[in-house]
Amino acid sequence: MEYEKIMDMAKRRGIFWQSAGIYKPVAGFYDYGHIGTLIKRRWENLWREFFLGLGDNYYEIQASVIMPEDVFRASGHLESFLDPVAKCGKCGNVERADHILEDLLKESFEGMAKAELTALIRKHNIKCEKCKGSLGDVEDRNLMFPVSIGTGKDKKSAYLTGETAQGAYVNFKLMFDVLRRRLPMGLAIVGKAFRHEISPRQALIRMREFTQAELQIFFDSDAINKHPRFDEVGSYKLRLHTTKNKSAGVEEMSCHDAVKGLHLPEFYVYHLARVQQFYLDVLAVPEKAFRLRELSAEEKAFYNKYHWDIQLNMESVGGWKEVGGVHYRADHDLKGHGEASGTAMAVNIEGKSVLPHVIEISMGVDRNVYALVELSYREEKERDVLAFPRKVAPFDAGIFPLVNKDGLEEKAREIYEFLRGEGFQVFFDSSGSIGRRYRRIDEVGVPAGITIDYDTLKDNDVTLRDRDSMKQVRVKIKDMPAVLRRFLGGESVSAFGEFIN
Ligand code: ATP
Ligand code: GLY
Repeated sequence: MEYEKIMDMAKRRGIFWQSAGIYKPVAGFYDYGHIGTLIKRRWENLWREFFLGLGDNYYEIQASVIMPEDVFRASGHLESFLDPVAKCGKCGNVERADHILEDLLKESFEGMAKAELTALIRKHNIKCEKCKGSLGDVEDRNLMFPVSIGTGKDKKSAYLTGETAQGAYVNFKLMFDVLRRRLPMGLAIVGKAFRHEISPRQALIRMREFTQAELQIFFDSDAINKHPRFDEVGSYKLRLHTTKNKSAGVEEMSCHDAVKGLHLPEFYVYHLARVQQFYLDVLAVPEKAFRLRELSAEEKAFYNKYHWDIQLNMESVGGWKEVGGVHYRADHDLKGHGEASGTAMAVNIEGKSVLPHVIEISMGVDRNVYALVELSYREEKERDVLAFPRKVAPFDAGIFPLVNKDGLEEKAREIYEFLRGEGFQVFFDSSGSIGRRYRRIDEVGVPAGITIDYDTLKDNDVTLRDRDSMKQVRVKIKDMPAVLRRFLGGESVSAFGEFIN
């Protein structure tokens, strides 16, 4: 699907658009409309349900997005959170050096040394895309957003956080004590991150302010070669793109084989499997659009020992794109914060002093929302559908009186209130023909339509219409909550009655 088409659809259907559009917008900032907000919230809730469910000691916390400079000096972000840039000697325009090359040569240059990037820019005689001036040698640019706190002589420097993760690390010791001193301990944060991206582009894919959902799993590194539930995933086939076999695109490999053949620890591979299951089973991403990509030593983030990206294949933004990562950060962060703050981060586990290691499951929520929109789009003969998985759709059902007279609207309102009271996210629409109303819910991916007609007044049955098959069945009003629950859980509409025309 074309990028322009997604952007146009996202705006018209209340999903997302560039922020402050009534002024001259600044690149890298996006707002969500009512439909986008609902989808994003549902994605986040599914993420919480799945990942907090991985351990009995995993919880969500919230942390400030502004933190003192000391935090980011200790984490290494001030020194090492850098992107390579090339500046135009004539007009001063700055571009990401690896992206200029990627656009031209259609391969990734992430992690390549500055001198090599400069040499490639020279070799291919690449000029400034704005004014065709000559580009200078490649330099580093720090991505952190500085802010100042207070005024006058009390003014202090601080930064907006570049990842939610640091909020979990600075709270590790406190939460460990509050949660009765057990490992593994999981601390999740769903929150904002800020980065001075050099050239924000592709909408929600590269923003300057974005939402991350990250889970930090603190564990005793002596236990890294075992996971108590590894048997559940041992023969599960991972979809991998390894550095050794790049031309293969995707290789299928069982978790057992990944441990043996790729020399990855069980504790790490277990989480790769769970991440894949989240995408394939919960979000219903088509298998062929998902892979886990191993990063080379040069590409890995500065804090990672093992680093695999989660990638989805999205035609509109040029193919495989990172939407998340599974990072083995070892003791990088706790060690750094321990030394810089003077707070001992080692904990006592059954008489042994342990400085916990961390496996981080990191996802960008906005990139995932974008991917959902692209991967769910279907263009059919007589309609456009966003075939979102039922649990991520913005609403569970639309409630429609066939006409606005003869008591049908009142009856439909009653049903609307009844289903809302039962905890469903429903909305009411009585304007336009019923066909037009069905199209409207198809366009924003609402999985069920419930229509109230003259027969409803006589027999208390309503019509339940399935977005995907467009098939309809009659259901008793009193049975609707149970039926809708089963339908949203994945059952086919045919389970609830004979199809009607
Ligand atoms: P990229 O290589 O695309 O710049 P990254 O490797 O810098 O991404 P991470 O630092 O691993 O990304 O961040 C974790 C996750 O946060 C990413 O997988 C992505 O989903 C999300 N993310 C990172 N940067 C952005 C951004 N500028 N806009 C939107 N989401 C982002
Ligand atoms: N917390 C991981 C990242 O933002 O890269």
